Amino acid sequence: MKGIVLAGGSGTRLHPATLAINKQLLPIYDKPMIYYPISVLMLAGIREILIISSPEYIDNYRRLFGSGEQFGVQISYKVQPRPEGLAQAFVLGADFVGTDPVCLVLGDNIFFGAGLSAALKRARDRDAGATVFGYHVEDPERYGVVTIDAEGRPVAIVEKPENPESPWAVTGLYFYDNQVVDIAANLKPSVRGELEITDVNRVYMQRGALHVERLSRGYAWFDTGTHDSLLEASEFVQVIQKRQGIQVACLEEIAYLNGFIGRDQLIARGELFGKTPYGRFLLRIAEDGL
Ligand code: DAU
Repeated sequence: MKGIVLAGGSGTRLHPATLAINKQLLPIYDKPMIYYPISVLMLAGIREILIISSPEYIDNYRRLFGSGEQFGVQISYKVQPRPEGLAQAFVLGADFVGTDPVCLVLGDNIFFGAGLSAALKRARDRDAGATVFGYHVEDPERYGVVTIDAEGRPVAIVEKPENPESPWAVTGLYFYDNQVVDIAANLKPSVRGELEITDVNRVYMQRGALHVERLSRGYAWFDTGTHDSLLEASEFVQVIQKRQGIQVACLEEIAYLNGFIGRDQLIARGELFGKTPYGRFLLRIAEDGL
């Protein structure tokens, strides 16, 4: 399975200064935002990753990650000339995806919770169709919203409805079989001029092939599109890391535990980060495991 991270644009609800670097490179507590969605792909066992971003930002990601070998993955890069919609990822990424299934994660989405790896692997191992993750929220009108019937089947999916029928937001993490490439290629732009991921999901729903996994209580999901959500996500990561003495979205740790890199490589990365808590954490894992 291939993985795509869409990390262009900076949104319209943040201070214009964030446009200078791209918001997905702002720190969420102690590491760049993009580490979190990449950690999700790696937790799903995905090792071939495409980062798509705007022409002015793509080199920032190249500098940050290079080939990805430090995490035992292969990272490649693709420019999205204009922000013409999330589903454009599959048009721009068609060659990268080839004949494989693919997982798309938005560069500004953060997921955390016990059982996440298992849920990701279930979605990855599904042979056909699409899997999206529903999250119960207070403000569904900000998101794609899915209505689920008594049997757990999706019956409606709408992008930012004025009067949401359900409290279930569709999070920015999507698993698709290879049909997504054709579906995206045949989409028409919405009234706001974008190729909408919600329209892709509706096609799967109409084919009876959209699975909705509801993330239960205790999961954290943040879409860091506003200053408040940026701060809340940072506070969340700080509390978990300090209280438990662990790291959230530590890419080297995930790589090591998944067997993508060996102990020597882990130690080399730990030494590179020297005296920072991140570096000390890597060395501790190399010493004790978890
Ligand atoms: O976060 C989950 C939500 O993400 C879903 O519930 C919605 O269905 C989905 O449409 C999306 O809504 P947003 O309003 O959050 O999408 P936004 O336009 O803010 O884009 C999300 C991220 O993707 C953002 O960091 C910028 C980047 N992006 C967006 C577009 C439209 C791109 O890189 N290229 C694009 O063309």
